Amino acid sequence: MKGLYIQTYGCQINQCDSDRMARVLGKMNYTLTDNVEEADLILLNTCSVRDKAEQKVYSALGRWRELKERKKELIIGVGGCVAQQEGEDLLRRVPHLDLVFGTHNIHRLDRMLEEVQSLGKRPVEIAFYRDPSYMEELEGAPEVKGPKAFVAIMQGCNKVCSFCVVPYVRGREISRPSDNIVREVRELTRGGVKEVMLLGQNVNSYGKASQGELTFPELLHKLNGIGGLERIRFTTSHPEDLSSELIEAYATLDLLCEHLHLPVQSGSDSVLQRMRRGYTRGEYMGKIQRLRDRCPETALSTDIIVGFPGETEEEFQATLEILQEVAYDEIYAFSFSPRPQTVAAKIYRDDVPSEIKKQRLEAVLNLQQEISLKKNRERIGCVEEILVEGPSKLRQGQIMGRTRTNRIVNAMGPESLAGEMVAVRVTGASANSLVGEMLKVNQREVA
Ligand code: SAM
Ligand code: F3S
Repeated sequence: MKGLYIQTYGCQINQCDSDRMARVLGKMNYTLTDNVEEADLILLNTCSVRDKAEQKVYSALGRWRELKERKKELIIGVGGCVAQQEGEDLLRRVPHLDLVFGTHNIHRLDRMLEEVQSLGKRPVEIAFYRDPSYMEELEGAPEVKGPKAFVAIMQGCNKVCSFCVVPYVRGREISRPSDNIVREVRELTRGGVKEVMLLGQNVNSYGKASQGELTFPELLHKLNGIGGLERIRFTTSHPEDLSSELIEAYATLDLLCEHLHLPVQSGSDSVLQRMRRGYTRGEYMGKIQRLRDRCPETALSTDIIVGFPGETEEEFQATLEILQEVAYDEIYAFSFSPRPQTVAAKIYRDDVPSEIKKQRLEAVLNLQQEISLKKNRERIGCVEEILVEGPSKLRQGQIMGRTRTNRIVNAMGPESLAGEMVAVRVTGASANSLVGEMLKVNQREVA
């Protein structure tokens, strides 16, 4: 057995990709270790969505140089979005690096390792594939790591948001065949998974680019009938592709959780136009209204970028306004960071001073804290169903689970409840989580 240490930066798609890396390398007798000192192979799965994430890559690689000096046979590889973006340049910049593989090349890792070990090469593979079969090359049933599982249903993005590097580092949209997705979810539920999170950069345009395939709402309908599965979630959606069929799915599919992550990015029409997002604030709000009319309990979360080039104080105020107007349950907010190859980096100057970006980010986060706290307090006294994930990270002796609306609940209870559906009464609330007392476990009363 050889030790494999994987460091993952970035989004859930990257986490999902890291799991694939471990599966590919499992065939070569590598087992995961969380101690980098024990590793025979270190892989860094990278993110380049913002500059800060990219810089972390170089500092991690710098730290591991000394390990390599001590252990000559140690192999170090970089995959993911920075690898895709930088390719050969990474090898030039980091002399102790052995291999570089792109976002479409995980299934090639075993062969690349052989090239390093037997031929002493430093391989770089960053080709994009158009045929989705490269996503299916793993043999055997997917690994079950708990009651929740990620299922990648597509790769890439066909949108052209001016700030975003994803289309350049993940390629054009490719959807996996729906039969394979259904099979994977069936296998996961057989292994005890109760909740699946369908993943893609623009998940609700699933099937659009592949003729004859199911649409995203049709795929949800198919998954909704799988025995043993209790919850379906998905991320990330683009507002333009939030169709009336998808809104209807929220009202009709019992497994589809009442939560939607719908990135708005800005509340200002002029900024949205410069971002090339393809919708106006009015169109976005219209869709939110239709969703809330059909399924009023749906919780909403979003992504916000502050300090996009040229963002005036008035345009920024429009973002604060939309946060109030929608009253999101949760937000992820970022300061604009110019990314290589993107339209925004080419045609706009990054002209909002970093001090102003910082103030705006703080203002957005502070406002959201107030909104989240108010919304969470409204849940006190309600009964919620949670899927228990395991022990609470913050509160000793307690368990942590999530409601269908994706709220975190901590409650007194044994760790052995992990994977169970538990009814809790909400007794307390903060901006980020709820506190509850247990009422029933899988329909049984708690003594
Ligand atoms: N597919 C998603 C969507 O429809 O918006 C976005 C995926 S992106 C990986 C995740 C989030 O990172 C975006 O929603 C955006 O808020 C943020 N982001 C992307 N590029 C950025 C940039 N150049 N600067 C700051 N934040 C950025
Ligand atoms: Fe990026 Fe826009 Fe696609 S934010 S992932 S180009 S929808």
